[in-house]
Amino acid sequence: MSDFTNEFWSLYIAVITVVSMIACGVLLYTFSSTRGTGAEGETTGHTWDGDLSESNNPLPRWWMWMFFITILFGLVYLVLYPGLGSYGGLFGWSSKGQYDAEQQQALQQYKPVFDNYLSQDIQTVAANPEALAIGGRLFQTYCAQCHQSDARGGKGFPNLGDDIWIWGGEPETIKTSIRDGRTGVMPPMGAVVGGPEDIKDTANYVRSLSGLEHDAARAEKGKVKFMAICAACHGVDGKGKREVHSANLTDENWEYGGTEAIIIQTITKGRTSVMPSHKHLLDDGKLHLLSAYVYSLSPHLQK
Ligand code: HEC
Ligand code: HEC
Repeated sequence: MSDFTNEFWSLYIAVITVVSMIACGVLLYTFSSTRGTGAEGETTGHTWDGDLSESNNPLPRWWMWMFFITILFGLVYLVLYPGLGSYGGLFGWSSKGQYDAEQQQALQQYKPVFDNYLSQDIQTVAANPEALAIGGRLFQTYCAQCHQSDARGGKGFPNLGDDIWIWGGEPETIKTSIRDGRTGVMPPMGAVVGGPEDIKDTANYVRSLSGLEHDAARAEKGKVKFMAICAACHGVDGKGKREVHSANLTDENWEYGGTEAIIIQTITKGRTSVMPSHKHLLDDGKLHLLSAYVYSLSPHLQK
């Protein structure tokens, strides 16, 4: 409750709130204690729709009391809980405080379960169905928004379920990827490659590498550019180099897409993809379980 830019607005809201509640009370009180001019049972003389007339009876007592109780409840609430400007309330309750307490409680309950696996190495944990069930749920919470719920990734997000790795599929490498994050950078190469025709030639050569339909004459010219510029990072065979974490361009697996237009865009503008660090979100136990879960997804490494 401290989102006010300055004290004035907090006070302003608080005064308006209290004054309106008191005003409601006063209004109710005057209405309940004063009578109209006529006697009870008489009509006020107002008539609608021919025969619908307004009686001069006071409001029912129980109904008035409900209103008074509501106002009293409101005032007591505002003393105990936040709601009056930036005043925090006698109980010191806050939604963040409640969240933190619940987190703390959950941590106490589950941390031992998570930490239980820390003494085993990642391969061993990856063979334990119970641990994988926990790891899978953690994955849905922390990772699925980027890597998809089946870990198969999508445009700009790598598939974690295959045995193709940008940074590496060894247990400790996976752990480092998750803990510290990774940034994959393909620099913009348009200006280096040359004009639009040169770029198109190079894109056709890239397509030829994975056997996709391409213009052979263009690919021939593009190959020269590729060897001079791209091979440094993607290798002369285009299979990518682990040292620079570049992509394998000879397989079916595209992180951004293999159409001519997308490849041209990749070459011209470059690509940056960021895997954020999860250091602050995951303690050692969770990190260990997640690493094991990701490790278990790779068909090649499982054997
Ligand atoms: C904000 C999106 C995002 C989230 C959330 C995210 N990742 Fe990633 N992750 C990426 C991107 C993008 C890359 C590719 C980085 C690159 O190109 O070098 C990546 C790469 C990886 C890699 C390396 C893959 C390789 O081929 O070497 C692993 C392992 C990984 N993520 C696991 C996870 C796990 C486990 C989680 C959940 C704790 C997670 N990621 C959450 C975006 C994300
Ligand atoms: C400085 C190193 C470097 C150079 C030079 C380089 N690349 Fe890349 N390239 C990368 C990296 C790293 C990635 C992966 C980016 C990521 O992880 O998001 C990449 C990704 C790509 C992709 C995306 C593949 C996919 O799966 O969608 C294509 C296509 C590509 N490069 C083509 C080229 C071509 C063509 C050239 C030459 C004109 C070139 N690259 C030059 C480092 C380089």
